[in-house]
Amino acid sequence: MKLFEWTKKIAVGIDTIDEQHKKLISIINDLNEAMKARKASEVIGNILQELSDYTVYHFGNEERAFDKYNYPKKEEHKALHKIYVDKIAEFIERNKKSELGISINVLDFLIDWITNHIMKIDMQYVPFFSDKEIG
Ligand SMILES: [Fe+2]
Repeated sequence: MKLFEWTKKIAVGIDTIDEQHKKLISIINDLNEAMKARKASEVIGNILQELSDYTVYHFGNEERAFDKYNYPKKEEHKALHKIYVDKIAEFIERNKKSELGISINVLDFLIDWITNHIMKIDMQYVPFFSDKEIG
């Protein structure tokens, strides 16, 4: 069973961003599966790299939209993104040191990201962008 399933309830209505949110959900499901199969240590390096790339293109997309239309909550939203970027960098460092058991920390972190960021903070910008053109 998948840990998370993307549904229309968490659609932001901007195709690129919704596709990227689906991607994040697929990353967490992959990590969860790997952990169940006791293969997390084999995939965690790749997953952290994917997450690091993800923060660049995905937060970049959101933040460009915020700047383009001067989204009123853009500064606080960007500050939250920065926390995710820093946390991933920290996980990458810990993984380089071959620290054991970080997969569960990464999984918890992703659960928090999806439930508190995507499902709450990102949802706040949906009404603001609903009548705007985002490329
Ligand atoms: Fe966001």
